[in-house]
Amino acid sequence: MNLNIACIPGDGIGPEITAEAKKVLETVCEKYGHTLTIEDVLMGGCSIDRYGVPLTQETIDVCRSKSAVLMGSIGGDAKTSPWYQLEPSKRPEAGLLGIRKALGLYANLRPAYLFHELAASCPLAAGENGDRSFDLIIVRELTGGLYFGERWTKTIDGVETAVDTLRYNENEIRRVARTAFEIAKKRRHRVTSVDKANVLDTSRLWRKVVHEVAADYPDVSLDDMLVDNCAMQLVRTPEQFDVVLTENMFGDILSDEASMITGSIGMLPSASLNESSFGLYEPSHGSAPDIAGLGIANPIATVLSGAMMLRYSFGLAKEADAVEAAVRQTLSDGYRTADLMPKDAGPAEGLVRVACSEMGSKISERVQ
Ligand code: IPM
Ligand code: MG
Repeated sequence: MNLNIACIPGDGIGPEITAEAKKVLETVCEKYGHTLTIEDVLMGGCSIDRYGVPLTQETIDVCRSKSAVLMGSIGGDAKTSPWYQLEPSKRPEAGLLGIRKALGLYANLRPAYLFHELAASCPLAAGENGDRSFDLIIVRELTGGLYFGERWTKTIDGVETAVDTLRYNENEIRRVARTAFEIAKKRRHRVTSVDKANVLDTSRLWRKVVHEVAADYPDVSLDDMLVDNCAMQLVRTPEQFDVVLTENMFGDILSDEASMITGSIGMLPSASLNESSFGLYEPSHGSAPDIAGLGIANPIATVLSGAMMLRYSFGLAKEADAVEAAVRQTLSDGYRTADLMPKDAGPAEGLVRVACSEMGSKISERVQ
């Protein structure tokens, strides 16, 4: 099979972590007899530096012409980077929101599961006896809601005032709900729809439409949960969740929370899909400008995003399994980037601290 993809290395640790994901993808393609072609494009701060805007039409066109996009991360330190002197619509993040919208990537899948190899670095998720286990996936609506509503800031009667608009229509809700139910059918047949229906009109519409969709999936159970309660339940008993379906802003917040209960935000991949098999694959974490260029970033979330690409855009389940198994094996062999080292750990625990590129190589070797 020919895998023709675009790559957006982006800013901060983006170039380091995408280099490792490419390394692993190349290895897995070689092993299984596929041809991989990757074209790099600019987006985010590096695009501002080069072209004055975070996202160019050319980047959109190149991405559109491929079957999938691998992305690192975009953005810099908001306190020190000149990118943040620009008006909000010209900053790096606007590039990410722009490409999600331009490519129609309305369904954002963010799996969170506990790697038992890492349970020591996450006592919260592992439970008091270290025997707890969870495996959930957040399906976040990605091209609507507060992120894309009308917004403004102005002074009214001498008072500075800002407005963001939270808007959803039934079609936007229905299509992402279908994605969630389809995924649940292949997992443990449970959807938890998260909203704030005790306050918001958009949430009441959300609930109504999700229940209509559920009628087409008699073998999948549906529960509603208020978002504040969900934030609590994720910490209390994450194992109760299978598929968590929610709107854009709630999903942004809950997915960061879900990532932390797995031990490190450096572990979690994500896929953003449109109605076909086209997808953009990126780690759930950001550009970590504080450690950019030091070679110590954790590339695993990006490597696992590559595995999601193999699975969702190319239907290569065996290859995706091979990458995921190699990650697990690398962890159980004791290799850890800095973020995964438990405090005060030493050789006694059999753990070896490795740099970003070494982690990529260790995973590649195990794919082989
Ligand atoms: C994410 C990020 C983005 C978002 C930012 C960088 C705009 O936090 O992908 O979760 O809010 O969607
Ligand atoms: Mg976020």
